[in-house]
Amino acid sequence: MEWTQDLAVGIEPIDEQHKELISRINNLVAAIRNQVCKYTIGETISFLEEYVVTHFSEEERLMTSHDYPDCRQHIAHHKTFMRNFEELKRELALLEGGTKPGSYDLSVETNRVVVDWIRTHILHVDKKLGAYLKQKI
Ligand SMILES: [Fe+2]
Repeated sequence: MEWTQDLAVGIEPIDEQHKELISRINNLVAAIRNQVCKYTIGETISFLEEYVVTHFSEEERLMTSHDYPDCRQHIAHHKTFMRNFEELKRELALLEGGTKPGSYDLSVETNRVVVDWIRTHILHVDKKLGAYLKQKI
């Protein structure tokens, strides 16, 4: 997956964070292809855990400080992602209790959840926020 202009929200720190997310997902895809993902998926999920908190709170701070009218809907969408992500973390925790640190299935599922997020959330919900913020900042 490549970061292209159609994913641009137009607010630099947000776009930079989105680029970082795409680059991590590309690493995950490479790990799946090279059949090493079960050893690296834990690292990817740890990255996402921190990323999601920092990134969502940054967007939510911008929404609140600029009185974004669709704030509640946008935050609800973040919460949906958090719930899906919690599920991935739970799966990883279950696996870590076993003999293997991760699994192919968990890696593929993580990729699916994040790519789906990029396509739905960034492309529509974040872009709408970006358009609003560009008029305000
Ligand atoms: Fe967002």
